[in-house]
Amino acid sequence: MTEKPATLRPIHYLGNKAKFLSPIVSGVVELTPSGRSILDLFAGSGVVSREFARHRPVVSVDIQAYSATLAGALCAPRAYGRSTRQRIAARAREWLDDVTPKVADLLEYEAAVSKSALSAPERFARLVEEGSLTSLVATDEDLARAKMSAEPQLASARAMLTSYYGGVYFSYAQALELDALLAAIRHQHEAPAEATLVAAVLGTASDLVSTVGSHFAQPSRLRDKSGAVKATVAARVLRARSNSALELFDRWLQRYASLDPAGYPCTTTTADFRAVLDTLDASVGAIYADPPYTRDHYSRFYHVLETIALGDDPGVSLAPGTSVPSRGLYRAQRHQSPFSIRSEVVGAFDSIFVAAKRQRLPLVLSYSPQGGGTKARPETRLMTIEGLVNRAEGFFTSVTVHPIAASSHSRLNRTEYNGELPAHAEVLIVARP
Ligand SMILES: C[S@@+](CC[C@H](N)C(=O)[O-])C[C@H]1O[C@@H](n2cnc3c(N)ncnc32)[C@H](O)[C@@H]1O
Repeated sequence: MTEKPATLRPIHYLGNKAKFLSPIVSGVVELTPSGRSILDLFAGSGVVSREFARHRPVVSVDIQAYSATLAGALCAPRAYGRSTRQRIAARAREWLDDVTPKVADLLEYEAAVSKSALSAPERFARLVEEGSLTSLVATDEDLARAKMSAEPQLASARAMLTSYYGGVYFSYAQALELDALLAAIRHQHEAPAEATLVAAVLGTASDLVSTVGSHFAQPSRLRDKSGAVKATVAARVLRARSNSALELFDRWLQRYASLDPAGYPCTTTTADFRAVLDTLDASVGAIYADPPYTRDHYSRFYHVLETIALGDDPGVSLAPGTSVPSRGLYRAQRHQSPFSIRSEVVGAFDSIFVAAKRQRLPLVLSYSPQGGGTKARPETRLMTIEGLVNRAEGFFTSVTVHPIAASSHSRLNRTEYNGELPAHAEVLIVARP
């Protein structure tokens, strides 16, 4: 018998704590009286919420809606058997059989341009740069014509992912498959589908995107500074476009099917952390907080996943000072986190400290040297560990710092860590009332 996986990484997510689950979970659980729940205030990919829910009830919070979907699926995965999966795939194919012929020009254009991408990369680069139907303008007349004829068809099929992100983050063919899956699971703004199904679409989109880091901050840049197309990047994007969303989706459902339920209930909430802290009651026994530490807004990096989770028409924000869509095709409205804004970050931490003090709750803060920016553009922290500890000391009777290593267990005793902190150490800051 194959061993069941302990956990899953449901999407590629900057700053996720999958590598540090053991020390975080053992540390927080030991501070939480049995019978009381753990508040995971910035749940992100949901991997930490799932592990907490193996030991205590969890309240899993994040401002991004995809987080609630992922945490819901990870904590209480639904096992879809082969016949149900086949039924979903058949519905998706039916949808494709209906819509594909109506956008044949667009798909034929894409197939031709992709076929000659390595020998004639200019047109392929333009497809990635100008493929979105949020603007019907395109340098290549054939592309402009194909977009024009496909636009009303995609609108009437409610094929949001193809209209907004097709050609750019995914091929049109892949984006159509993603739209077909959303239609097959009947996922709409008004009536969201079951979490495991939507989580499987999120995992699929995260696997399909060809950017380094698998995020959506901006599409792959195919040109060098002189404007010449870089063959290696074109080849990478092309390779990523050979994957099938339908196949990946099926694999994701199988992964969720082999995951044990976490055990304890996990309540998911899509809300600002301050709204949740304002209504804390005695059922909560400890707070775990893993907020952003850099200027990078998660809402910018994962906006496509947010659109999938919400199943809405996202609209598009404009490039600053212009009337053209932003290069990243960001949603018209997106959250700006106070943790990523220099003038607001101290106040944001203070509101966690105030609430924990008011409720006399222990607080465990993660502080990560990684997880911000990209490899090419690492971001510096808006708060230092020292700054955070000094601030927290004004609210708690004891504040200690604990470096943690991947796969270690840690008892968060009161001994202050006196050694030099390794510059790249992942740490937990433990504040006791
Ligand atoms: C470092 S990530 C958390 C990663 C998570 N622990 C994991 O393992 O996947 C920070 C999270 O904070 C969320 N966030 C940012 N501002 C927020 C706010 N005002 N209220 C609630 N969540 C917020 C982001 O959406 C992001 O998912």
